[in-house]
Amino acid sequence: MASSTSDRSLLPPGSFGLPVVGETLNFLLDPNFADKRRDRYGPIFKTRLLGRPTVVMMGPEANQFVLSTHMDCFSWREGWPGTFRELLGESLFLQEGDEHRRNRKLLMPAFHGPALAAYVDTMQSLTERYAQRWETLGQFAWFNEMKQLTFDIASTLLLGSAPGAETAQLSQWFTALTAGLFAPPLRWGWTPFGRAIRARDRLLDHIEQVVRDRQLNPTHDALGLLVQSEDEAGNRLSLSEIKVQALLMLFAGHETTTSMLTSLVMALAQHPSVWAQARQEQATLMATNGAIALDHLRQMPYLDQIVKEVERLYPPVGGGFRGVVKAFEFNGYRVPEGWMALYRINAAHRDRTIYTNPETFDPDRFSPERAEHRRAEFSLVGFGGGPRVCLGLAFAQMEIKLVAAHLLRHYTWSLVPGQNLQMTPIPTLRPRSGLHVIFKQRDPAAP
Ligand code: HEM
Repeated sequence: MASSTSDRSLLPPGSFGLPVVGETLNFLLDPNFADKRRDRYGPIFKTRLLGRPTVVMMGPEANQFVLSTHMDCFSWREGWPGTFRELLGESLFLQEGDEHRRNRKLLMPAFHGPALAAYVDTMQSLTERYAQRWETLGQFAWFNEMKQLTFDIASTLLLGSAPGAETAQLSQWFTALTAGLFAPPLRWGWTPFGRAIRARDRLLDHIEQVVRDRQLNPTHDALGLLVQSEDEAGNRLSLSEIKVQALLMLFAGHETTTSMLTSLVMALAQHPSVWAQARQEQATLMATNGAIALDHLRQMPYLDQIVKEVERLYPPVGGGFRGVVKAFEFNGYRVPEGWMALYRINAAHRDRTIYTNPETFDPDRFSPERAEHRRAEFSLVGFGGGPRVCLGLAFAQMEIKLVAAHLLRHYTWSLVPGQNLQMTPIPTLRPRSGLHVIFKQRDPAAP
């Protein structure tokens, strides 16, 4: 399918749309934009987004091409808007080659293996506190509540924040920062971008104070581990590197996890038989293990299947942009250097040649007997793939499973009727209504 560049081959089919804006509005406003173009032109087509010629590539082969076999043709850095580069600084998303490899290696220990065990208590106690709050509220919009919970978890572990007023202040700055990421780069005090710069500076000052404290008093939270992280050559992250990387992790990890948790609790409420089986798994574990520890999370195969199915059907991130830094050929079409490329995550997830009835929520498709995702490599890419697969994958999965297991064990909820559950994809996937639910404690004697 893929081959080396040849001058004879054609540019991909498609249309650039209007001058300058191209098809940006169709892309932003029509959730089926890419599917419609794929039906018309096939799995690779051209368009113009945000003023730049762009190639959209869909399906497992395209994913593998972009994420793994032809990575050298693509730049992450060039895939992000300038506002992003300024606000999130020289962090992992914007790094390439040796610099990226070095930093990824130094960041990795804080998000994998034994480090995760140290985060269980924080995740657990915050989840318990939020669940009690939800019980008191009785009825609420879950997306916003999940967002506060995931922010509290991430800011406690990554920014060393103390629950209460400090977290609320950090959350306010963080909201101002994210509002500026895709805003016009006008830096006056009252513009979203100007406010975002101020918020970023405050957050960085806060992280600096905490890092200095961690240098004197080592801890086992993620920030403490970043401070201590050292590779085999004795390299360490500098203070300014830790600051921007911690901020990036907060950005990368918090709305994505919120989105997936919201879709998970929605899917459970919509599929009572799946919910009953998931509860049964928890009841059996609870009878033997009691409270949840890291080890127990590895003994929840059915919950694993549910989490995978949520990743497949409701991937929080729609795709990944890259700058094309080396011309390439894919599927017989030539893509020139200087274009943008977009790989689409959910195209592979709904591919009928891989997934049976792909529109149906069916966790059993990931059972060991069916394992539909094994039919093609790069067919489940909710966390990206290849050497730059999501750094927070294990961290996020642990958090999602911990929250889900706690809710399954002790609570029950139903969806408030009449709300708009249509999924909206930007900035991360969520039901339009925010998911209004009625939430209460479960009767422990109930089946
Ligand atoms: C459900 C939660 C999450 C989802 C769905 C998710 C999704 C993704 C995806 C799709 C990518 C690849 C993007 C691309 O190829 O353009 C990615 C990369 C990344 N994610 Fe996540 N993510 C999640 C949670 C997290 C968390 C909790 C963290 C940090 C603690 C994190 C940090 C990162 C980083 C640093 C990268 C870039 C890795 C690199 O360039 O080497 N993510 N994530």
